Amino acid sequence: MYRKNMKKILVTGATGQIGSELTLELRKKFGGENVVAAGRRRKPNEMLLATGPFIYLDATDKSSLEKVVEEYDVDTIYHLAAVLSAAGEENPQNAWRINMESLYNVLEVAREKGLTRVFWPSSIAVFGPEAPRVKTPQNTVLIPRTIYGVSKVAGELLCNYYFLRYNVDVRSVRYPGIISSETLPGGGTTDYAVEIFYEAIRRKRYTCFLRADTVLPMMYMPDCINAALTLMEADPSKIRCRTSYNVAAVSFSPAELAAEIKKYIPDFVCEYKPDFRQQIADSWPMSIDDTAAREDWGWSPKYDLASIVKDMIEKLTRRLAEGLL
Ligand code: SER
Repeated sequence: MYRKNMKKILVTGATGQIGSELTLELRKKFGGENVVAAGRRRKPNEMLLATGPFIYLDATDKSSLEKVVEEYDVDTIYHLAAVLSAAGEENPQNAWRINMESLYNVLEVAREKGLTRVFWPSSIAVFGPEAPRVKTPQNTVLIPRTIYGVSKVAGELLCNYYFLRYNVDVRSVRYPGIISSETLPGGGTTDYAVEIFYEAIRRKRYTCFLRADTVLPMMYMPDCINAALTLMEADPSKIRCRTSYNVAAVSFSPAELAAEIKKYIPDFVCEYKPDFRQQIADSWPMSIDDTAAREDWGWSPKYDLASIVKDMIEKLTRRLAEGLL
């Protein structure tokens, strides 16, 4: 894969839940030096620092973004920096500003400098209660109730516009809740599905902020990364959707997840105290129709609920034994 004069990949939000693992995967594939990790955390984890360049970057500042793209000869951006759904409701003005200004800057820089490719994640949060909640179709009514969802719908339309108007090769998937063992998510409605593992292993108790029967679409990190890499490698002629592709893996409720965890930790107790995030979850799909992604670029997830739980418990138990949890 590595070519001598290869240009560089920039990952914004590289210290976040997806960014921290995607950056390492890209570095394995393309060489550490060729993948610039950018974030706003002053102290990123050691793996990020040890495997390639790390820079501080606020993507809402266009001139800083331009400088980084020039300095490192960047030709591909994975733009992951964003404020998620629950955090967004706490400060909607800030969420709109960060999510929209940074995406606009990335698309503008891609246009001006003729970048090769851009990846930007959208979310199941683009859907609202008016959309069918079971097997939610690729093309349906998008009337989200969160500012995060509003920014994702606007972002999808902006990406599509930049493709049609300026031929910017921007690609996107609508991620469901992402479960991962390395970096905690921050500020999302689906975060319970990660927190529950840490608490089950450490304390054998968890208080879930959603009702026991709240079914949401979810995905394990290896599938999440695979979606981004497969889509980015696909031949441009295969990408028929330039807003964002539905991608699905599994759907389950907190009660179903807790029951699966109990198979490994029999005395685990899960309690339920729904808060404001319940309303957000109730406005989102329960399952997703991802036929278009499967047909166009061969999307296919590998992990189901049982294999996610097995892998998470193994990984986190090991980290606890090593004193790293
Ligand atoms: N996991 C995200 C959230 O809960 C969904 O995009 O905000």
